[in-house]
Amino acid sequence: MSTPHLTPEHGMQEGVMGLIRTSLEAKEFAYCPYSKFPVGAALMTRDGKVFTGCNVENACYNLGVCAERNAISKAVSEGYRDFKAIAIASKMTDQFISPCGGCRQFMREFGVNWDVYMSKPDGTYKQMTVEALLPRSFGPEDL
Ligand code: THU
Repeated sequence: MSTPHLTPEHGMQEGVMGLIRTSLEAKEFAYCPYSKFPVGAALMTRDGKVFTGCNVENACYNLGVCAERNAISKAVSEGYRDFKAIAIASKMTDQFISPCGGCRQFMREFGVNWDVYMSKPDGTYKQMTVEALLPRSFGPEDL
């Protein structure tokens, strides 16, 4: 066992730990002078490409953008829409970072059958699907 301190709540999966580590690193670039709540995200496409994101706040507070949405927008703007998983990281040690409602809807736009890994700084995580995080959702198929 090379990383005994990393004890995921759910079953181990190839590449998950690396994706979480990447989200922890992305958090370091967060621009959050108002909330002082840095968040990082690492999004993996079905063909294995990884896009990172961090939250980017603004003096006009309501213009701030979440880490997850930035990662997804980076991927989509480079032609990737098919996602396997997104890992999210914050500094909270007492709970797993959970995506806001807006980000859940933003994820859902690109399908409900992919994974969200909500982590803590020690690398432990909780895994849920987009479907489970946003049940009975409204999406592109409804239009
Ligand atoms: N935030 C994210 O980037 N992702 C989340 O999952 C939760 C919240 C950001 C938004 C804001 O910049 C700061 O965290 C505090 O809400």
